[in-house]
Amino acid sequence: MSWEGYLFVYLPGEVEAVPAGRLVLDEAGPDATASRFGYGRRYLVRPNAVPVDPVSLPLSCLPGDEATYEPAHPPLFGAVRDAAPDFWGRRVIEARLRVPPDSVPESVYLLHAGPHRFGALDFRPGMDNVEAAGLLPPITQLGYLMEAADRVQQGIPVPAQLEPVFTGGTMGGARPKALVIHHGEQYLAKFPARNDGFDVPVVERACLELARRAGLDVPPTDLVKLADGRAVMLIERFDRKAKGEGFVRRHAVSALTLLGKDEYESMGARYEEISARIGRFGVDGQVQADRNELYGRIAFNVLVSNDDDHLRNHAFVWDEAGKGWRLSKLYDVVPRPQVAAERYLHLSVGPRGRLATLDNLLEAHGDFGLLKRDAAAIIERVASVTREWRVLFEELSVPEHECNKVASAFRPPREIGMNVVEKVL
Ligand SMILES: Nc1ncnc2c1ncn2[C@@H]1O[C@H](COP(=O)(O)OP(=O)(O)O)[C@@H](O)[C@H]1O
Ligand SMILES: [Mg+2]
Repeated sequence: MSWEGYLFVYLPGEVEAVPAGRLVLDEAGPDATASRFGYGRRYLVRPNAVPVDPVSLPLSCLPGDEATYEPAHPPLFGAVRDAAPDFWGRRVIEARLRVPPDSVPESVYLLHAGPHRFGALDFRPGMDNVEAAGLLPPITQLGYLMEAADRVQQGIPVPAQLEPVFTGGTMGGARPKALVIHHGEQYLAKFPARNDGFDVPVVERACLELARRAGLDVPPTDLVKLADGRAVMLIERFDRKAKGEGFVRRHAVSALTLLGKDEYESMGARYEEISARIGRFGVDGQVQADRNELYGRIAFNVLVSNDDDHLRNHAFVWDEAGKGWRLSKLYDVVPRPQVAAERYLHLSVGPRGRLATLDNLLEAHGDFGLLKRDAAAIIERVASVTREWRVLFEELSVPEHECNKVASAFRPPREIGMNVVEKVL
């Protein structure tokens, strides 16, 4: 079996998509086995054409009547995989189609992820097909969305009147979420999940605000209390911007895609590889700024024990002015309480691998284009803020018992090599 259709792109500043080329997906049962893509001639000559995939489909590709391309990592092009739902989005689509988990072909998930998917791609069976309908609900509907999400988590049917969750419920990630309109912009709403050990939405939101205080680039966030007392975290989308009645999109890909890697290669990948890719695919004049930001994020992850820092939790957005890929704003950063004295991040930090210490990170300074002293200054800036996390959490009304539940995640800088960093300052 194979699916053949058109890959559309919403070009920078435009609210309508244009066809970029023809995509073929070979499938055996629910599994994709191979893909091919050829750019349309008309697309490639557009002055504001966006590369579909930085690694496998740069704009230097030949048009489709001269060449078709295959993904760096079969079966899917990284950018196509990023535009398809993963764990949570799949459950939402299955609930709508009333089919068992992971039972339908990849192309079904790809087509059903709808117009609000991550990034600026869309998939349509024909050249003349228009965008799938689907208005996002306002945050006043969060209570209903949460109820629908509860049902999806339990695998029980969702009644028709709760269906708005399906309009925008197909972003990536595993946790329950939906998309909503807030202050006229698109926000990702992240719900509590069954079996959470602490109030994740409240803590995640506070942690993102802590990152902002530490000088990191964080989208606007908010917290909404539902009538039943549960809290929902909101984070503004960095790949959408309101324009007139619609939204313009920025094409975005995961770091997994920028590195041309497959899911199973994420563990053991190195931050240094992300830095090298920023050098290769980034925007002239902005490479060091993005490396500094990445370096600060690693320091933050070490200090708050965010060890879920896998390659899908870092993203890049296409920068039209600079014709390159910029590090996206920060998202999905959650402290993970634990008892271990020796801790590890998901990605490798420095010469001592994944070991989550500040001296390990300091030693890697050269991989990020940093002088040792400048690297130490970034670490010091972040550590001086995370050290005072309780003050901000209190300011944000995080209840004390929630602070206590996550306290073990926040590491006293001195216990993880801050003395070595201070010597350089
Ligand atoms: N602020 C945002 N703007 C645009 N896309 C986002 C934003 N936050 C998350 N995403 C996308 O949604 C996916 C899931 O969000 P994430 O916060 O990582 O959820 P989870 O906790 O389920 O992993 C991310 O992998 C990323 O692709
Ligand atoms: Mg995530």
